[in-house]
Amino acid sequence: MSMGKRRIAVLVSGGGTNLQALIDAQGRGEIVNGEISIVISSAPGVYALERAKNAGIHNCVLDRKNYPSSQAMTAALVEKLKEFSIDLVVMAGFMTIVTHELFEVYNNAVINIHPALIPSFCGKGAYGLHVHEQALAYGVKISGATVHFVTEECDSGPIILQQAVDVLPDDTPEALQRRIMEQCEWKLLPQAVSLFCQGRLAVEGRVVHILP
Ligand code: GAR
Repeated sequence: MSMGKRRIAVLVSGGGTNLQALIDAQGRGEIVNGEISIVISSAPGVYALERAKNAGIHNCVLDRKNYPSSQAMTAALVEKLKEFSIDLVVMAGFMTIVTHELFEVYNNAVINIHPALIPSFCGKGAYGLHVHEQALAYGVKISGATVHFVTEECDSGPIILQQAVDVLPDDTPEALQRRIMEQCEWKLLPQAVSLFCQGRLAVEGRVVHILP
């Protein structure tokens, strides 16, 4: 591995609290051997873009509506990632489907945060608040968050880190979402990114080994 810092792209679609957690961790020196080089949004006008601007991080919009297909949007994304010499792609609340072209270039180099304990409450239709609605409807007593490598099949790639929280008797989807963000997501995502940038994630089949 070269001595330079790993260059990170963060993909967003909304409020960007996970992006903020990464920016704050970087500010504290907790993203060891990595730097956020660009923030890419799938929609204009989202608050995540303001967070990038406030932190002085280069940012751009690849509006899904401007592309005829997911393939075309993915091709534009890959071009942008190459242009910025990106090593690691982080999906932080990124709600747009990407196609296999991304994983051909970035094999085991795309990670995602999902707000449940995969393989529960994931896959098609399980995003944002829906995930927590599903968990409450099912009656689970714990839920949590998962950081995983992204592969072509939705929410099915090798798991890097997971953390659980209790589901409380009076939880609403919003309350559970907030607890999972605060106690799981905002810690796990920066941790996983830092481990990747240090070269400490070894993927063997479905299993990710965390190297000392
Ligand atoms: C987060 O809870 C993230 O885990 C979830 O969307 C939210 C984005 O919030 N992602 C998914 O549901 C992906 N399937 P943020 O924009 O404040 O980071």
